[in-house]
Amino acid sequence: MDSGPQDRNSILGALGHLTHGVYVLGTRRGRQSNAMAASWVMQTSERPPCVAVAIRTDRYTHDIVAESETFALSVLRDDQVNVATHFGETSGEYDDKLRGVPYGLTPNGSPYLLDCLAYLDCRMMDRARAGDHTVFVGEVIAGETLDASFPLIYDPSEYEEALR
Ligand SMILES: Cc1cc2nc3c(=O)[nH]c(=O)nc-3n(C[C@H](O)[C@H](O)[C@H](O)COP(=O)(O)O)c2cc1C
Repeated sequence: MDSGPQDRNSILGALGHLTHGVYVLGTRRGRQSNAMAASWVMQTSERPPCVAVAIRTDRYTHDIVAESETFALSVLRDDQVNVATHFGETSGEYDDKLRGVPYGLTPNGSPYLLDCLAYLDCRMMDRARAGDHTVFVGEVIAGETLDASFPLIYDPSEYEEALR
């Protein structure tokens, strides 16, 4: 059986055909808030409504979500690539990415963007290590639609730092 770099490239090529939306995941631990762009997000249950998000273990956001066990997902509109870039190409470790960005706090206390398509407020239900990411499963305890337009679909050519 073939193995090695060629194999990995063809796997990555095939994976590149999966479709993802683009979200801003906001979380808060005590008085510390942070948000990052996230694409690896999916609904996993209807009753109760649940979503899963994969966060790489070395992201600054990772440990905040792991400890606070709460997060919110803001669903970006198709004209908000610049917002995804803002939250996805710098780290909250060095910069307050929420400074100057209008945001609210969900009932559970997580930051969400006031200017987006919709948000989901999630309380951690489960987690699983999945390679270099942790999959956090959240029960959606609140949600609201804020705009009537179209969601942003992830296109790696629009970002300097593609998902790694
Ligand atoms: C469009 C886009 C989608 C992304 N999706 C994810 C994702 O699903 N999971 C992840 O761990 N990182 C993802 N990233 C990378 C993080 O958003 C990026 O590393 C960010 O700077 C982390 O912020 P932090 O250091 O404040 O946690 C994505 C980046 C972009 C631009």
